[in-house]
Amino acid sequence: MSVDSGAGAAAILLAWYDRHARTLPWRAAPGSTADPYAVWLSEIMLQQTTVAAVTPYFQAFLRRWPTIDALAAADDADVMAAWAGLGYYARARNLLACARAVAAAGGAFPDEETGLRALPGIGAYTAAAVAAIAFGRRAVVIDGNVERVVSRLFAVETPLPAARPEIARLADRITPTARTGDFAQAMMDLGATICTPRSPACGVCPLIGECAARAGGAPETYPRKAAKTARPVRQGTMFWLERNDRVLLVRRPSSGLLGGMRALPTGPWLAEPPGLADAPAAADWREVGGGRHVFTHFALDYRVVAAHGADADGEWWPIDAIEDAGLPTLFARAAAIGRAAMVAA
Ligand code: ADE
Repeated sequence: MSVDSGAGAAAILLAWYDRHARTLPWRAAPGSTADPYAVWLSEIMLQQTTVAAVTPYFQAFLRRWPTIDALAAADDADVMAAWAGLGYYARARNLLACARAVAAAGGAFPDEETGLRALPGIGAYTAAAVAAIAFGRRAVVIDGNVERVVSRLFAVETPLPAARPEIARLADRITPTARTGDFAQAMMDLGATICTPRSPACGVCPLIGECAARAGGAPETYPRKAAKTARPVRQGTMFWLERNDRVLLVRRPSSGLLGGMRALPTGPWLAEPPGLADAPAAADWREVGGGRHVFTHFALDYRVVAAHGADADGEWWPIDAIEDAGLPTLFARAAAIGRAAMVAA
């Protein structure tokens, strides 16, 4: 292990960040702290989602709800629709719950990890990130990028997820007391642009001289990972029911997968194709296509069936304005299949 004092790696990385920090809409310039509301919003959006995907959503949210109080006062349905396409919809429900909790307590975020962690949707990572980036607190910030950088820097041989405590200790060791927010974001930038999962660009890495994995010759093989179990596949049916240029949409139950989002009616998702179980109405259903959607814990193979005419409970949405319904990606794709088939029929 060539990094024996954390101070060395941190100083090198901060100097690199001063020259190469990515300009991102939620960031302050290196050396200063940013608006806590913007930092919190960006960190929630960036969980499980890339900077490129998040940027337009972040900007649209800040334009529409420029303060925590504005967001706290928003309608649930508007926020869920504005979030549509970002995925992991529990984040949007918790976002609103958190905004309302902060607004009710006077509108200022707690400025340290313990207070932040007590808020809805804020886990260890987000609490540390907001404390460091928005409030300049020393906090050990560990996301997937940081995990990869640290496991390479120290050539951690324990596979993930068992390696997490060891990685946390090592990350703590190299985290500086000053400029902790910049340090955390420098680690993220390094992980996103140089210390990438498959082919790290070690030739331009500021930490090349410190990196044990690089010295060992196979940095891309870190972090070590426990063998993966195969993702199960479920089967489902999506119902496109059309009447007078409108299509039937429903709102999913507020808890559970895609909770609170508008959707096409869909029955149970099972190991075997469920056919027309839980169709919203008796109708002359015709199979018009299908696809696969991959969630974190399973993949869904879905058929789209379409019909005209029958009455049913739900929201009859104008087909011409289906893009404004705020459908999550899975249902937006299924809707495009159903709509195209009915136009062609
Ligand atoms: N990913 C999560 N938070 C980030 C941040 N503040 N900067 C860059 N990438 C990030």
